[in-house]
Amino acid sequence: MNEIFAPAELGPITLRNRVIKAATFEGRTPDALVTQDLIEFHRETAAGGVGMTTVAYCAVAPGGRTDRHQIWMRPEAVPGLRKLTDAVHSEGAAASAQIGHAGPVANARSNGVPALAPSRMISPLSMRFMKVPDQDEIREVVAAHANAAKLAEQAGFDAVEIHFGHNYLVSSFLSPRLNRRADGYGGSTANRARLAREIAWAVRKAVGGRLAVTAKLNMEDGVPGGLTVPESLQVAAWLEADGTLDALELTAGSSLLNPMLLFHGSAPRKEFANVLPIPARWGFRLVGRAFLKEYPYQDGYLLERARHFRRELSMPLVLLGGITNLHTMQQAMTEGFDFVAMGRALLREPNLLHRIRSDATTQSACIHCNECMPTIYTRTRCVYRPDRTGAPIPLTLSGTEGGPKDPA
Ligand SMILES: Cc1cc2nc3c(=O)[nH]c(=O)nc-3n(C[C@H](O)[C@H](O)[C@H](O)COP(=O)(O)O)c2cc1C
Ligand code: SF4
Repeated sequence: MNEIFAPAELGPITLRNRVIKAATFEGRTPDALVTQDLIEFHRETAAGGVGMTTVAYCAVAPGGRTDRHQIWMRPEAVPGLRKLTDAVHSEGAAASAQIGHAGPVANARSNGVPALAPSRMISPLSMRFMKVPDQDEIREVVAAHANAAKLAEQAGFDAVEIHFGHNYLVSSFLSPRLNRRADGYGGSTANRARLAREIAWAVRKAVGGRLAVTAKLNMEDGVPGGLTVPESLQVAAWLEADGTLDALELTAGSSLLNPMLLFHGSAPRKEFANVLPIPARWGFRLVGRAFLKEYPYQDGYLLERARHFRRELSMPLVLLGGITNLHTMQQAMTEGFDFVAMGRALLREPNLLHRIRSDATTQSACIHCNECMPTIYTRTRCVYRPDRTGAPIPLTLSGTEGGPKDPA
């Protein structure tokens, strides 16, 4: 059995332990560039003892952002990211950049660039038709991922995590519901998986062997007609056979259609409504219950699905979802997972790992209320944590005129 607090290899790099801070879009980049606030967020997480922290979100193109306040990978972003990775390394942790294209989760109105979707559909965020990329434009998206990975390397990152989840662009191509294309990127599972595989190949070619290359893959979308566990298992098996990835992190849910499956726990409907502009707020009162469904929280809530992947695959896997204490970490190790990733528990207490290491009975103070979720519009934070720097950054209305996007 893997030892959670022992150093562990992840492709070409070695982490000081098997705990990774999961991507939680930090909302600290009002000008789409690194701020001291973002650096401090990751420095503090690293000082809390994780093996690696994940910087979210690093879009591969301006239109790949969920809104215009997010970093997109360009030479101008590199010096700030370098300061960030230096700060993380000075605390003994590694740094991963989550790279991806938000696809149908992008807010075109905020970005000033059309959102991309595999097939013709109206964006619920901008209420505009999205652009359906042709094969040349798909090639550009693939190349943009490779370019983003190279920039991440220049910025001193140790790893890149490619976003294949939550109905972002690649995940929307995987979805039979969202992808109704008739070309080589639609139809059969193999065709719908083509984009994921091409991107993984391109990123591998760009930085593989020097940076760890991982992907965050949906096990299921949790929407009728969406990606299911058996199909995702097939996709994962192809990714494993391609040898392009050093690990897979397993997630679930759709930022577009079913965000609460990502989290489980209470649905923060009131808090979410409060960050909407007034007309959208009224509309949300009508559909909020259907959009933000409630899934009962339990520790390790994605484990049951993830077990199928552990049984079928031999590549390293990262277990995510309700990892909050030593018991769930050790359970993951016992069941053959190689790493665990933690989101909310570390937003609540960045030093949680140190506390667990000094007292094995330590329980997380996170109550999975999910009120941190709407804070992505105003500087991501646990609402129960005293704020270090004071006022939130009001990204909300100016950045997302058409209403906010979903986290993740
Ligand atoms: C405030 C917030 C922001 C998030 N942003 C992202 C993101 O940018 N990318 C992503 O892949 N997942 C994102 N997530 C999802 C987390 O990475 C993770 O999948 C989810 O929180 C479940 O893990 P947990 O139970 O440890 O919190 C976000 C989660 C939260 C709470
Ligand atoms: S707001 Fe805080 S306590 Fe609530 S889910 Fe988020 S991190 Fe946990």
